Amino acid sequence: MDIDSLKKTIEKELEEIKNLKELKEFSSKYLGKKGEMRKVFAEIKNMPIEKKKTLGKEINEFVAGLEKKTAQLYRVFQENETESKKINLDLLEEKIESGHLHPLTIVRKEIEDIFQLMGFTVVEGWEVEDQWHNFDSLNIPKGHPARDALSLGKTLYLRNNLLLRSHTSPAQTRYMKKLGAPLRIIIPGRVFRYERTDASHETNFYQIEGLMVDENVSAANLKGVLGKFLEEFFGKEVKIRFRPSYFPFTEPSFEIDISCSVCNGVGCPACKKTGWVEILGSGMVHPQVIENGKLDSKKWNGFAFGLSIDRLAMMKYKIDDIRWFYNGNLKFLKQF
Ligand code: PHE
Repeated sequence: MDIDSLKKTIEKELEEIKNLKELKEFSSKYLGKKGEMRKVFAEIKNMPIEKKKTLGKEINEFVAGLEKKTAQLYRVFQENETESKKINLDLLEEKIESGHLHPLTIVRKEIEDIFQLMGFTVVEGWEVEDQWHNFDSLNIPKGHPARDALSLGKTLYLRNNLLLRSHTSPAQTRYMKKLGAPLRIIIPGRVFRYERTDASHETNFYQIEGLMVDENVSAANLKGVLGKFLEEFFGKEVKIRFRPSYFPFTEPSFEIDISCSVCNGVGCPACKKTGWVEILGSGMVHPQVIENGKLDSKKWNGFAFGLSIDRLAMMKYKIDDIRWFYNGNLKFLKQF
């Protein structure tokens, strides 16, 4: 047996091992139960005692060295393999995009900022309301046309006299009762109507209610506040139209239109081809509503308005269909 050439072959093979698989093959070939080294030990057994001693010692040392080296290699290869299974985030080709606010949220915040500068406080109403606050407290008793399916009352009713509010106005009496007067608040929130959807109608949309209660509030105050607001919001003077209107809870009542910014007043789907877009209803708070809010209507009066955030956002960004806000289309949303 040429022990030296065997050692050389083994050492050369060991040096060429590149991975865990090759290392396992090597170990079982030389160090395993049926491996080459076992055969060498078997041969030594039958040798004369002296030779057995020296050769035995040499082989023992060689095998111990081999075991130590293979153990080290095992550790290295194993680490490399688990390393390569880990996900390396630096190598992701696609960039992870961060989200941003929805255009309706952006516009709501802008509106809030402007009114806050004018001394209004932002408060929240209830999405699920009772019939009294949504209707009766606002001079819309049972049997009133505004309560049926025609005008304001495209209402979604729930059990127990409850409903999904069809406007943010029920918060008027709630906050008069809660905070008393004088009062300057805006109430942003989602409202619900059973609508046939089209370019300018959705089954839910967002309003901002405004309410100012004080002594000697006049329609000039209402016009001043809303005119200033629209000027700030659009960043330029917009054409505004006050139209006499009717709401049971304001007297007198006005509707305010702005000239359609999508088509510059020419006529398009967003303005139903009229060139004007109705963005808010408003008026002087009806004395009975003040009383329903548990305030003395001889001392206090005020104005109220309700504007549609969706319509304002459409005008600001020149969007010709309200449904874009709710269909989750990323190509649309990413533009804001
Ligand atoms: N609540 C009315 C609507 O939704 C708007 C409005 C609010 C009108 C306040 C007058 C005063 O149409």
